[in-house]
Amino acid sequence: MSPALVATPASPQSKMSITNEHPVESQYQKGVKHLYEIGIRRVPRKYILPVSERPNQTHWKTHTTDGSLQLPVIDLSGLHGPRRSQVVRSLASACENYGFFQVVSHGLPNEVISNMMDVTKRFFELPSAEREKYMSADMSKPVRYGTSFNQLKDSVFCWRDFLKLVCNPLEDVLSHWPSSPMDLRGLAVTYAKETKFLYLMILEAILESLGLTTTKNTTADTDDQILSELKDGSQQMFLNFYPPCPEPDLTFGLRSHSDFGILTLLLQDEVAGLQIKHQGRWLAVEPIPGSFVVNVGDQLEIFSNGRYKSVLHRVVVNSSMSRISVASLHSLPSQSAVRPAEKLINQTNPRRYRDTDIAAFLHHIKSCDYQEKGVLESRKLT
Ligand code: OGA
Ligand code: NI
Repeated sequence: MSPALVATPASPQSKMSITNEHPVESQYQKGVKHLYEIGIRRVPRKYILPVSERPNQTHWKTHTTDGSLQLPVIDLSGLHGPRRSQVVRSLASACENYGFFQVVSHGLPNEVISNMMDVTKRFFELPSAEREKYMSADMSKPVRYGTSFNQLKDSVFCWRDFLKLVCNPLEDVLSHWPSSPMDLRGLAVTYAKETKFLYLMILEAILESLGLTTTKNTTADTDDQILSELKDGSQQMFLNFYPPCPEPDLTFGLRSHSDFGILTLLLQDEVAGLQIKHQGRWLAVEPIPGSFVVNVGDQLEIFSNGRYKSVLHRVVVNSSMSRISVASLHSLPSQSAVRPAEKLINQTNPRRYRDTDIAAFLHHIKSCDYQEKGVLESRKLT
């Protein structure tokens, strides 16, 4: 364990009571890294969940005794050879039964991955004054330092800070990305391009698994447009930082939610924290160094007419170590319709979701207090 990941108490004079020295709400808006740095020893009320919703109230475990609850691990090198159809089938099965899987031998250079983790760590180590430059409540900004999930609407806050980087069009957004650490832009751009490439590789195999494309050619029909839209979609990266939490049983790093896009590719450090809902239980995802955790988002659940599942997941925090993750969210372009693929709808498998558009999707997310699966539920046909 690197010493930087271990909680060290802040200096004694900084152990102040936030209620006496600072206006409380403005402290929360500055994020949890800040609360950790000023040395709080109790979780403020703003972060405390009702007893029934706290981490230890629900039953969760890493796996059953027969190991059947372990998240599928898929070796992607097989996509390039004679085993392709087998790998495509394992992707289909993971998307149907778990909504989550881990990928190894994915082809992304180790150096790109370690550089991204390292620069993320260095960004969060910057003095507050430097990080605060990017704080904004404006969700449409190409760069934004934020805290919790939606800090303008959440009635209970979560123990997470994040730097959101919008990744397209790169030539327009890049100059807005942080200039400190000095190498952040270069390393994050390389990482964004590499993860987009990996996303497209996985997406192609997923479309194949739905019977919408073959290895060689795309079927020529009305689904063509949506297929190319899927490939031209937008990308956002969330660099997440979860500081040690003095009372981790009272709050979450992220509350149970589903991701809104097509697929999310998540890189995590060696500190466990991510849990996914599987058959009514919370399953902890064991970090595998150098791998990505991939999950189906709401837009893919709708596009596949419910065959692939956008599964609830959450992050637990702990009292001794900080945790870093980088989530790369890939979604449809902003002008797209979100609807089931025509080819997947028929008499035996009727349409399960009504049409919507990205704007309505995003509006729903921005305008609501925390809801587990707000948008998806609102689009379901009964
Ligand atoms: C997310 C997310 C999980 C993690 O950013 O949407 O679910 O482990 N992150 O940080
Ligand atoms: Ni998520």
